[in-house]
Amino acid sequence: MISETCIAPVNIAVIKYWGKRDEELILPINSSLSMTLSTDQMCAKTTAAASATFKENRMWLNGEEVPFEGNPRMQKCLDALKRLAEAEKSKRFPLEWKLHICSENNFPTAAGLASSAAGYACLVYTLANLYGVEKSELSSIARQGSGSACRSIYGGFVEWVAGIKNDGSDSIAIQVQPALHWPEMRVLILVVNDSRKKTSSTNGMLNSVNTSDLIKHRANVCVPQRILQIKEAIARKDFKTFGEITMRDSNQFHAICLDTYPPCAYMNDTSHAIVNFIHQYNETRGDVKVAYTFDAGPNACLYLLEEEVANVLSLLNKVFPNDNSENSEYVKGIPIDLQKVRPASELYNQEIVPVGNNLLKYIIHTKAGEGPQKLLDPEDSLVDDAGMPK
Ligand code: DP6
Repeated sequence: MISETCIAPVNIAVIKYWGKRDEELILPINSSLSMTLSTDQMCAKTTAAASATFKENRMWLNGEEVPFEGNPRMQKCLDALKRLAEAEKSKRFPLEWKLHICSENNFPTAAGLASSAAGYACLVYTLANLYGVEKSELSSIARQGSGSACRSIYGGFVEWVAGIKNDGSDSIAIQVQPALHWPEMRVLILVVNDSRKKTSSTNGMLNSVNTSDLIKHRANVCVPQRILQIKEAIARKDFKTFGEITMRDSNQFHAICLDTYPPCAYMNDTSHAIVNFIHQYNETRGDVKVAYTFDAGPNACLYLLEEEVANVLSLLNKVFPNDNSENSEYVKGIPIDLQKVRPASELYNQEIVPVGNNLLKYIIHTKAGEGPQKLLDPEDSLVDDAGMPK
């Protein structure tokens, strides 16, 4: 048996991908841009093993076996990597050998956090290591698993260039700035309590392309301008411009969702209360100090600089009080020193009225990070010597 184990990061878009021009190849109607998050706090981990003795391809996700052959996107990624191995005459093992693949997230998948991006990036990167192929084409292969996954192949700030070719060969991710370019940048993910059934991104964006008139204006006019402006803002480390574009783009994406027929509401009342909170905070501070962005769900992702984290968190605990806020599990990730906060009156010019109790499940504090990495310690493998989940 031969096996490889790798981890891959989550990414959070500041210019959103929403809408495909080709469903099969997963080609988008607009370019998008994201920051890759550190794998120290959130990552997908995958072990892929190949052996002459395996009878069939099998896969386990977070400990549960899932059908392998029934998943066309996964099959597509595997076929693309095998073709690459054939073209490069990779000789690590015979290509007929069957695979056992085990994959896990170190954060709850149910929380609706960008798990498919990390998951497919990890699958593709791990298989590339297993087959021993060149890594230059991995973003376009990961894209065929889940569009946003192509951006998780790189660290730092990453653009997924939409491309114009029908075969998708120019629809690839590129690194815009490395992870260490803006070391003060931080992210707070506010995981919101919500039990509604959500429309998947795949179906939501298909409905938007088919029914929204606004989406065309967004893709043709707004996004190209914003991509240029936000890349400049990132290069200059201009948080004000970065934050404003991020918030406007999130709002526009959710406006498109409401312009979809029937409408698709991903944000809930708590999400909207967070939006109000951030605008009030920025107004009091007299500057854009925090920016929110929401994906296809109610959780907020806040971008802010390190110096602002303790201020925002101390106020969040007052406006969104939680019975667990003293518990060390409530704020996960990079430790925060809550001693170093400004007086509440300097942070919030409103009377502090709690929106409601326990509206947030927990908070993750993280920052920018690198792309996928190979793990060398056999202890990290998710399979035993027989190739079964440990
Ligand atoms: C709202 O990549 O999950 O997170 O390509 O159909 O798998 P598929 O969709 P997916 O869509 C992500 C949409 C988003 C915005 C973004 O990450 O850019």
